[in-house]
Amino acid sequence: MKKIPIIAGNWKMYKTIAEAKDFFSIFLPLIKESSAKILIAPPFTALFSCAEAVKGSPVLIGAQNISAYKEGAYTGEVSARMAKEAGAAFVLLGHSERRLHFHETGALLQKKLHEALAAGLIPILCVGETAEEREAGRSLEIVKKQLDEALSSEELKDLIIAYEPVWAIGTGKTATPQMAQEMHQNIRAHLREKMVKNCPILYGGSVKSDTLAALLKEDDIDGVLVGGASLDPKHFAAMALL
Ligand code: PGA
Repeated sequence: MKKIPIIAGNWKMYKTIAEAKDFFSIFLPLIKESSAKILIAPPFTALFSCAEAVKGSPVLIGAQNISAYKEGAYTGEVSARMAKEAGAAFVLLGHSERRLHFHETGALLQKKLHEALAAGLIPILCVGETAEEREAGRSLEIVKKQLDEALSSEELKDLIIAYEPVWAIGTGKTATPQMAQEMHQNIRAHLREKMVKNCPILYGGSVKSDTLAALLKEDDIDGVLVGGASLDPKHFAAMALL
């Protein structure tokens, strides 16, 4: 059976509302024949207008982050319920940029994951090792630790994992399909031990249209999380059509 890949775009802090509208006016007509599951995470400010723009299309819109709190005096935060109401279907959690620049810890991510599930958002939990950790032969240990810290014992039905080695994000260095497959297989085995089943595992880190096909051929790579290459509507549409 041919797999239906998940092609997810992370726009990071790029695109205003007007720029997002321009993106969809080019992107949506191009992906009509796509059988992929297409996900896009714009910045919060464009979340609602993007969700409106994709209505009637198969594209799902999501948030790049949510608060660990339900509501309250937390200036600058956006709750899971607010993101959901604005049109988010999923949320990226624990992206390495958030772990690095905003000091997100496993304990915090466990709370965010709980909030996401309670609001009906599908969490996409990002994990991955740094270059130093890989060189020291600690990749699997680090990834397992990140999974264990963030995943509590609550029932996890709708969960997606994104394996994104930090050294591959925005650097042009992609893990080889074999390297990614090996890690994905290990992640799947670890999730099984934790009774998490049927969890799609995405690969992320400098994925472009020319590296996508080889990655998707691997048994345990269910899709990709794309940063830079998701910003261009023609390039990203080409990936969704592969
Ligand atoms: P990149 O980013 O594709 O630009 O490497 C991936 C990500 O950060 O999700």
